[in-house]
Amino acid sequence: MVNFKKLIAETVYDEALGLSLEEIEGMIEIPADESMGDYAFPCFRLAKALRKAPQLIAADIAARAGDAEAFEKVENVNAYVNFFIDRAYFAGEVIDEVNRLGNAYGRSNSGEGRKVIVEYSSPNIAKPFHIGHIRSTVIGNAIYKLYDAVGFDVIRINHLGDYGTQFGKMIVAYRKWGSEEELAKDPIKSLLSYYTRFHKEAEEHPELEDEARETFVKLEAGEPEELALWEKFRKLSLEEFNRVYDMLGITFDSYAGESFYSDKMPRFIQELKDKGLLIESQGAQIVDLEPYDLGAAMITKSDGSSLYVTRDIAAAVYRKETYDFYKCIYVVASQQNLHFKQWKKVLELMGYEWQKDCIHVPFGLVSLSDGDDIKMMSTREGRVVFLEDVLNTAVAKTAEIMREKDAQGVDIDEVSKEVGIGAVIFQELSNNRIKDYVFSWDKVLNFDGETGPYVQYTHARASSVLRKAEAAGIDVDAIGKIDPAHLSSDSAYTLAKLLYRVPEVVEEAAAKYEPSIVTRHLVDIAQSFNKFYHDEHILVDDEDEKNAKLALVKASRTVLANCLGLLGIAAPERM
Ligand code: ARG
Repeated sequence: MVNFKKLIAETVYDEALGLSLEEIEGMIEIPADESMGDYAFPCFRLAKALRKAPQLIAADIAARAGDAEAFEKVENVNAYVNFFIDRAYFAGEVIDEVNRLGNAYGRSNSGEGRKVIVEYSSPNIAKPFHIGHIRSTVIGNAIYKLYDAVGFDVIRINHLGDYGTQFGKMIVAYRKWGSEEELAKDPIKSLLSYYTRFHKEAEEHPELEDEARETFVKLEAGEPEELALWEKFRKLSLEEFNRVYDMLGITFDSYAGESFYSDKMPRFIQELKDKGLLIESQGAQIVDLEPYDLGAAMITKSDGSSLYVTRDIAAAVYRKETYDFYKCIYVVASQQNLHFKQWKKVLELMGYEWQKDCIHVPFGLVSLSDGDDIKMMSTREGRVVFLEDVLNTAVAKTAEIMREKDAQGVDIDEVSKEVGIGAVIFQELSNNRIKDYVFSWDKVLNFDGETGPYVQYTHARASSVLRKAEAAGIDVDAIGKIDPAHLSSDSAYTLAKLLYRVPEVVEEAAAKYEPSIVTRHLVDIAQSFNKFYHDEHILVDDEDEKNAKLALVKASRTVLANCLGLLGIAAPERM
């Protein structure tokens, strides 16, 4: 497709200007006011070199640019050359390109040959996968898809929280109050109840804490009985997590979590010592980060057991050595900002220059609105919202809405899953990730708001127009060259412009680790499509006009499906 900025740069280019094509391209602006054209080139900077008034230079360029097919007109206003793109030409180009590339439209190979790790989800085993985890899972999956779309070789890692002193508590609790049968029946809920009981009892019997600490040290030393229990908890937990991942359509390339690094830590503890970074503090080993206003990073506890940050140091080096990543992206809640700052600082002090390529992508908290039937609660107290329940509720509520709407010819069982789960994902990705937000069913499932169901509905509407055309004997896929003269209305032009910007939007969202840029663009496209659909009669008698409009509908449908796909959301044909 024509790259309009490039084309304009070529039009403006003249040796006498003393600017390279790239420099010219970099100077091109997009006027805020559409009456000043679609693109503008300012001439102020040229005045000195050319010893000529900028408005005269602009007038010269405008006169030269005259009659290129792509421009409806080129005119100068003061020191600017304003370019008005020929609407029909533009729409024709965009539609051709989208329909030629199909599923590949929006993708690029700009990341080719480079590896990116995206680490996300990373729940803690033996604890519920609760609604707070959904953010990392859904945002991380979208970031993976965005990097994949722009051509990177992406490795998805689920850094399971499968190690740490809490497993000492869990084992103690299970031995005291647990049973095989109970565990087999409902693993996570039982483990959670033991864990909760541990905390309650430990208030009165603080010696339980010591027992738990000793048990963890045994686990870390690889004692067979402790190890076997831990393995059982891990396996049962993963089975539950996988049920949720299946519902969300998410897979990982590696589940190497914290335990994976347990035997790799001595090397780093030694290295920290050798580099003179470790100091002793009340029996524990720490790295003093006071000079950087980051407190202290505890590397080993007084009983010798390792800590979260130590495992993250080992994990980072392991990943660099194993994958030689270009970037390693950590999608983890902003509550852990301090942890990630400390960890990066320690890596820096150790001399690992590549720590600059490790990127913490934080996100805000989710809470639940008062009126809702679910509330966010703490794991320790044992009250918690299970993500699986949230997804099942979304599906059930969606099925109810669809039945009320009496959707014709729709497989409600199938589609309510795509729409209900899609709605939860879309909501997650709607706001800037760093913002806290309040979860509310009314918002999530509103078919008319800026929601997943609204965008999916728009996709189904476009599909339905195409089905109608097919039923009337038109082979939409066989529509060849269209006459874009029929697409010069405001609504068609606005829609075409939004479709044109998709590749740019995808690049930007990946570069900023911000899927909401795609989500917002999708809402714009859906709104624009619906305006076009209401403003214009599509299945008109005139063959050329009908074909041109159908080609735009088809391109819109393709883009809606592609962008939903980038967010990890299905695009049903009917709903
Ligand atoms: N398991 C941790 C939690 O649930 C998140 C792990 C984040 N990743 C990391 N490399 N520290 O809080």
